[in-house]
Amino acid sequence: MTDTPEGNTTPEGPRTVPGPSNPQPPAEVPWPRTAGDREARAGDLSDSGPGALDEAQLSGHGDMDPESFRRAAHAVADLMADYLAGVERFPILPDVEPGDLRRQFPAAAPEQPEPVGDVLADYRRLVEPNITHWQHPAFFAYFASSGSGPGILGEMLMATLVGNAMLWRTSPVATELEEVTIGWLRRGLGLPEAFDGFFTDSASTSSLIGLAGARQSVPGMDASGDGLAGHPGLRIYASAEAHSSIEKAAMTLGIGRAGTRRIPTDAEYRMDTAALEAAIRDDRAAGNVPCAIVSTIGTTGPTSVDPTDELADIAEREGLWLHVDAAYAGATALLPERRAPFAGWDRADSIVVNPHKWLFTPLDASLFLTRRSEVVRAAFSLVPEYLRTLDRVRDVHDFNEYTPQLGRRFRALKMWMLLRYFGLEGMRARLREHLALAARLADRIDAEPDAERLAPVPFSTVCFRWRPARFAGREDEPEVRAELDRLNTALLDAVNREGRVFLSHTRLRDRLTLRIAIGSIRTEERHVTLAWERICEHGRRLAQA
Ligand SMILES: Cc1ncc(COP(=O)(O)O)c(C=O)c1O
Repeated sequence: MTDTPEGNTTPEGPRTVPGPSNPQPPAEVPWPRTAGDREARAGDLSDSGPGALDEAQLSGHGDMDPESFRRAAHAVADLMADYLAGVERFPILPDVEPGDLRRQFPAAAPEQPEPVGDVLADYRRLVEPNITHWQHPAFFAYFASSGSGPGILGEMLMATLVGNAMLWRTSPVATELEEVTIGWLRRGLGLPEAFDGFFTDSASTSSLIGLAGARQSVPGMDASGDGLAGHPGLRIYASAEAHSSIEKAAMTLGIGRAGTRRIPTDAEYRMDTAALEAAIRDDRAAGNVPCAIVSTIGTTGPTSVDPTDELADIAEREGLWLHVDAAYAGATALLPERRAPFAGWDRADSIVVNPHKWLFTPLDASLFLTRRSEVVRAAFSLVPEYLRTLDRVRDVHDFNEYTPQLGRRFRALKMWMLLRYFGLEGMRARLREHLALAARLADRIDAEPDAERLAPVPFSTVCFRWRPARFAGREDEPEVRAELDRLNTALLDAVNREGRVFLSHTRLRDRLTLRIAIGSIRTEERHVTLAWERICEHGRRLAQA
């Protein structure tokens, strides 16, 4: 029995969170395995099954001994493979209410060691079924973040080595493999050698770093040295559709939300360059200091594409930093035939592309590239004595000097493994497949009299709503607007509750908009078809209600 935060006790057996859409996987204890080859691989587990503590736990010092670790690692590998093989049996959203899960875990940490087998059994029972299944092939919400097999293997090895890439000295191969894989990606994306870079945890961090570079580049001020006090307000320009991480970066950098100018977009949700130029003019006239333009290639809602080439002209003329947020869509620059949306991004000062969105890399990995690494370094470099490498004979990358944090994960390892496993051609084939799936879905929506597509589909995300034909031509009448919002909210809820596919929404021109974002490495045509069938069925039912 286990104490819960409420002081209740729960039986050891699985507490099945009720609901027909939440079938629990068998509460089988993965340790010891009994079936054939697994048993052989795991070795003789007779004295280390559930309930048994290993030597290190009994002795009270040192880590798990290598043989216990080996057996546990085999059991974990089986859990991982079983999960990936069977992920479709789960409802994508677990059928739980807030607090349901916390109650099933003890409020206090165990005083005494617990057998690994028991911990893994609880993982299987309490953790695995109650995650939102990002690895499910019908995960179409937000942007996918799917972990490929070789990427996951890389994560396992990263965790084993704890290769901290903060200094070259603290992990030479982590630093140099990062340089190598950054070069592979840069060349793959068709960007010139002038771009240097590194991996961060997220696009939010990459944009923060890019915009810190922008702030550092403002003539007449040294933001990292002197701070912002006494300087006029800095201004950053991003479209109304730019991701909130841009505003968050401004909040963090002392520029503030007030310093972030959201520029209106045109009919296709692209930044209006005339409005941008007017905003820059107004800001200069008011004594503020324009600092950076953010061009988004693949905005989060409609996946629109800002006119980066024109924005690069304006940035050049105005002496501003150009940051390109291609967190989602940047992956498609691997396809030479799909580079048109990227025209001008080679003129950017900094760029972000997220491998953990559409390059099949397990969270986390964001690629940050810059043509002005010395400015970025000036924004973040601070080397206390203990981090100086005294015997250094030649210049190396100490990547911590370019980032807010010191310790850095060895993300290049998983990138290297998955790029070798798939090859660039393998990556391209998968991206092309996703683009084709999205194009076919857009065709089906266009052919459906009761649906309406709400944005172009430049990549793999389709924005639409259910719009019964009887409302065609009357969409802007206030009552019809409200009715369509209600209908699509109910539709989203009905589809997601079933757990067979998972969609998310946005608002475009103040219309509740459904999104199907294709990007999971496991998605096939049948999953997209299922999503469309579920939408049509619920759409028709709700429209009649
Ligand atoms: C265009 C864009 N930029 C930035 C982000 C933030 O990504 P991350 O979660 O890696 O910070 C997102 C997230 O969806 C995005 O769509």
